[in-house]
Amino acid sequence: MEFSSPFQTNLAANISAESQEEYRKIISTLPKETAWTPMQPLCLYQGFWFFPIFLEGAMYIQDHFQAQSTDVLLCSSVKTGTVWLKALCFSIATRTQFNNYTSPLQTTFTHQCIPFLDYGEYAASQGPRFPLLATHMPYTCLPKSVIDSGCKIVYLCRDPKDNFVSLWHFLRKVTRNSFKELKEGDLISVEEAFELFCKGISFYGPYWEHVLGYWNASLEHPERILFLKYEDMMKETAPYAKKIAEFLGCPFSSEEERGGRIQEIIEFCSFENLSNLEVNKAGLHQKKDKLIENSAYFRKGKVGDWRNYLTTEMGERLDNIMEQKLSGSGLIFRVSPQD
Ligand code: A3P
Repeated sequence: MEFSSPFQTNLAANISAESQEEYRKIISTLPKETAWTPMQPLCLYQGFWFFPIFLEGAMYIQDHFQAQSTDVLLCSSVKTGTVWLKALCFSIATRTQFNNYTSPLQTTFTHQCIPFLDYGEYAASQGPRFPLLATHMPYTCLPKSVIDSGCKIVYLCRDPKDNFVSLWHFLRKVTRNSFKELKEGDLISVEEAFELFCKGISFYGPYWEHVLGYWNASLEHPERILFLKYEDMMKETAPYAKKIAEFLGCPFSSEEERGGRIQEIIEFCSFENLSNLEVNKAGLHQKKDKLIENSAYFRKGKVGDWRNYLTTEMGERLDNIMEQKLSGSGLIFRVSPQD
């Protein structure tokens, strides 16, 4: 895959004032939940909770985005390791063009190398483009052209307990940065957020519905949808890097394997390396009307950090909810005590 520009201007488009007005009208009628953050309420649309600012983009691409059969959509709910998935896929797909030292990821934030569809930055362009695209949208909300085009999808999910803790931290951080006058006690507590999460009220939640949508679709179309788990990839990344390369149509050659190319890419994309790059330590990126610190996307990158924030009972409660919601699907999340 040839990567030319991190900003992909041939695809960028602004939602017209008329469409925006129309989307805002619809959004104003949706059920809302305000407790997560004072920045924006969550709105229930097509069975999932969205922030209005991103819902406008989602509605826009539902109406206008034209997927191409060569596109590969990197899909995930928020805080499941999206940056990691993007960095791995990007590095694997462009490895004949760049090495670790020349990679655009050295100087450009990952989300700018592979932008999100649902932030409304894409038009119906049919022109040539870098085929890796990303979205947090649930499977059932994807633009029809994604399904019709038969384009490939890589989905990453994560243990819900760590996902919850990561989301709680992230939203508090972004809220605090937006409202400097807010005090610690004004921000949502872990208990309050946990109750909402368990009710399915979270950013792109219910989380289990997000996961199930892609899981079921991956069972139906295994050749088109690669379903990955953060914990599996953290345990042993190499087999998944190889799987991704094969899925993207650029398998590692035996010379590359022998020469350590897989390991080089894994190390470059590791939390330790990415979080220490200057662009990710000190850079900012624009998300809609906000400037967000790139460092907000790198917290700990660990499996099982939930134990530092949730009681065992809370953990069990969420495990039980997941087990019940996923029952019969063949998908299991409960990780063993030593993990
Ligand atoms: P924690 O908050 O648990 O540390 P997303 O990329 O979807 O926003 O997810 C963010 C989560 O992925 C954060 O989890 C973040 O630290 C972790 N993460 C970021 N880069 C990573 C990497 N290279 N490897 C593993 N985890 C990473």
